[in-house]
Amino acid sequence: MEPIARLVKVSIPNYLAGLPIPDTIVGWFRLGVSDWASLIPPTALLAGIGYMSYKAFCPRARPKPCGAINVCIKKDVNKVVDVVDVEDITEKAVFCRCWKSENWPYCDGSHGKHNNEHNDNVGPLVVKKQN
Ligand code: FES
Repeated sequence: MEPIARLVKVSIPNYLAGLPIPDTIVGWFRLGVSDWASLIPPTALLAGIGYMSYKAFCPRARPKPCGAINVCIKKDVNKVVDVVDVEDITEKAVFCRCWKSENWPYCDGSHGKHNNEHNDNVGPLVVKKQN
């Protein structure tokens, strides 16, 4: 604990006391290049702490979860509904469940590319007709 106590009670206060922070607004315009250079580390530290606090506590700064599953199929309608008559299925029908098929509502194998790119495991719904 001794090194931490020394850091908090002696080193940091001495460092802050040595910073060329002027007493007046006009004093900021009189700072030299080396003065500005010595202000960069504490300013960067404060900016980093402020940014991390903003990211941690501001809900608007948090990444939003990806909401849309369907990114391209029938985007002009409010709800995508497809009806397939069972009588129209000859032997089997393979329906897309990944929303990536170019042959909607049927699977065209696009789920494979999606699974490879996103380490996912989605696949089609296979409906078989009993004979
Ligand atoms: S293309 Fe979507 S499940 Fe096969």
